[in-house]
Amino acid sequence: MRVLGIESSCDESGVAVFDGARGLLAHRLYSQTAMHGDYGGVVPELASRDHIQRILPLIRDTLAAADCGLDSLDGIAYTAGPGLAGALLVGAGIARGLAYALDIPAVGVHHLEGHLLSPLLSREPPAFPFVALLVSGGHTQIMQVAGVGRYELLGETLDDAAGEAFDKTAQLLGLGYPGGPAISRLADAGDAARYALPRPMLGSGDLNFSFSGLKTAVATLRRKHPEDATAADIAAAFQAAMCDILAAKSLDALRRTASRRLVVAGGVGANRQLRAALAAGCESLGARVYFPELDLCTDNGAMIAYAGAMRLREGAKLAAFEVRPRWDLASLAAPQPA
Ligand code: KG4
Ligand code: ZN
Repeated sequence: MRVLGIESSCDESGVAVFDGARGLLAHRLYSQTAMHGDYGGVVPELASRDHIQRILPLIRDTLAAADCGLDSLDGIAYTAGPGLAGALLVGAGIARGLAYALDIPAVGVHHLEGHLLSPLLSREPPAFPFVALLVSGGHTQIMQVAGVGRYELLGETLDDAAGEAFDKTAQLLGLGYPGGPAISRLADAGDAARYALPRPMLGSGDLNFSFSGLKTAVATLRRKHPEDATAADIAAAFQAAMCDILAAKSLDALRRTASRRLVVAGGVGANRQLRAALAAGCESLGARVYFPELDLCTDNGAMIAYAGAMRLREGAKLAAFEVRPRWDLASLAAPQPA
């Protein structure tokens, strides 16, 4: 089964072709971050308009790179939510229109399911079951994953998402958008031990998170030390606190579920220090940690093509043309034959 995947939930237009027998044939990405950077965050209407301009040329490029024609496709997968309603509708409209014209099925994919399954595209994919740490710009969740569509929520953030905390902290430090990579670069030059920041909910006895207090602590610290020279130390202290919290809760989830596999997905999973902390923690537990390839950590079409293929393989179809700007991942069911 060969599936074209289209991602347009936020500020990245992603297109990919996944082939059940040969794997990922090609994927292409256009990032709008430079355009939104001027505003310090994503402007939804600009995002929708840009997706309209980018997706068709990206589809042509991706099909050419995959050396396949539209007539070789067996299905089209698109991100149906969660995300920005207008941006989602662009991908959904193109996918549904193309599928109708080609007389092949279209399937709406949950964006977080795409992230969750993205490590399965790597050279050494994890086997089910596994614990997943989902850390993106909009979500922070720990999931128990028994198979495709068999997800149990173990814990989640009560306020800001991990990526959001990176982005807001970057703003406080006068760095650009997106904040995660900027904080990470600045932190490399900083001393994480110079300032002590709190680790909210570290001892809460559950697998939930709260990051808004940490952001407030950074704001207070920055007011006390506005000099340019301290920004790197604050960035390093913030990154260290985030890594401590995310690693401690992930390891706790492995212990609670007696699981030996941890999968990390979503944009914050690209953070090098987080990767190192999780790798060391897992080793101490005799567990193994799996990351998506770096370019598949942040939003992309490949994860949507893959998740769509898993669902279309079972004959699953989303009958209605719909997008769901808000959509609970734990509400998904395993694919059922049509
Ligand atoms: O998964 P993603 O591409 O989009 C969403 O679905 O939200 O995640 C984007 C988030 C942004 O908040 C960005 O700042 C963060 O991932 N991010 C990082 C890094 N690269 C991206 N955070 C920390 N360190 C990074 N290296
Ligand atoms: Zn995402």
